[in-house]
Amino acid sequence: MSSNIVVATRNLELSYNPNEPIIKDTNISINKGDFIFLTGKSGSGKSTFLKALYGEIPVTGGELQVNGFNLKNISKNSLNLLRRHTGVIFQDYKLINEWTIEKNVILPLIIAGYSKEVCTLQAKKLLKHVRLLDKANKYPMELSGGEQQRVAMARALAHNPKLIVADEPTGNLDDFSSEVIWNLLKNVRQHVGSTIIVVTHKIPPTISIDFKQYYIDSGTLHEII
Ligand SMILES: Nc1ncnc2c1ncn2[C@@H]1O[C@H](COP(=O)(O)OP(=O)(O)OP(=O)(O)O)[C@@H](O)[C@H]1O
Ligand SMILES: [Mg+2]
Repeated sequence: MSSNIVVATRNLELSYNPNEPIIKDTNISINKGDFIFLTGKSGSGKSTFLKALYGEIPVTGGELQVNGFNLKNISKNSLNLLRRHTGVIFQDYKLINEWTIEKNVILPLIIAGYSKEVCTLQAKKLLKHVRLLDKANKYPMELSGGEQQRVAMARALAHNPKLIVADEPTGNLDDFSSEVIWNLLKNVRQHVGSTIIVVTHKIPPTISIDFKQYYIDSGTLHEII
C-alpha cells in the first residue's frame, strides 16, 4: 500500500448480523490530508463505517486497511498502536463524568505517557481554541450539550492524530460554535497534515475547505465527483 493512502477498502463488508450487511461492496481509497464529508440517510451506516476504522466493530468481509494496519483479525497490540494515532469524536461524546474538563481533554496524552507539564500546556491551548478555558475545572455534567461536544473535539485533537474521525461534530452547535470547530479541523489538517473524515447530515454551505464528499447508497460507499 502506498504510504500516501490512509484508508483503503476492497469489497468491504460490515455487518452486525449474518447475511444482513450494513456496508457492502465498498472499494475506496482515502489519501493523506484528505478532508472527507461522509453523508447518507439516517441508518445508512455512517457511524458503522467510522467505528470499523478504529476497530470498534470487526470487519466481516473483504479488506480494510487504515494507516498501514489490516483491520481484519488485527492483534490487540496493533489496534492499540492504530488508536494512538487516531482521534475520535463520537456521536454521543463519551466524556468521563468523574473527570474535569481539563483532564478529559488530555486523556490521549495521559495514555501516551506525556509529562504533566506537556499535558497542562496542551490542555490550555486546546481549551482556548474551543473557547472553554474558563470551564477547565468543571465536570461534563455542568456543561451544555454543545460545550460537551467541543470538549470531545479538543480531546480528539490533543495528540495531533494522523487520522481524525468525527461523527456529527457540529450536531449540537450553533453557527458560531460550528465555525470554531470547522476552523479547528482546518488548522489541524494544515499544521499536522491529519486526514479528516467527518460524518454530517449537511455540508456547511459557507465552508472554506477543499473537501471530498462520500455518500452511502444502499450500503455502498461512493465518492461523489
Ligand atoms: N450494535 C448494533 N447491533 C445491530 N444493529 C446495529 C447496531 N448498531 C447499528 N445497527 C444498525 O445498523 C444500521 C446503520 O446504523 P448506523 O448507526 O451506522 O447509521 P447512521 O448512518 O450513523 O445513522 P444516523 O444518521 O441516524 O446516525 C442501522 O439500521 C442500525 O439499526
Ligand atoms: Mg450515526
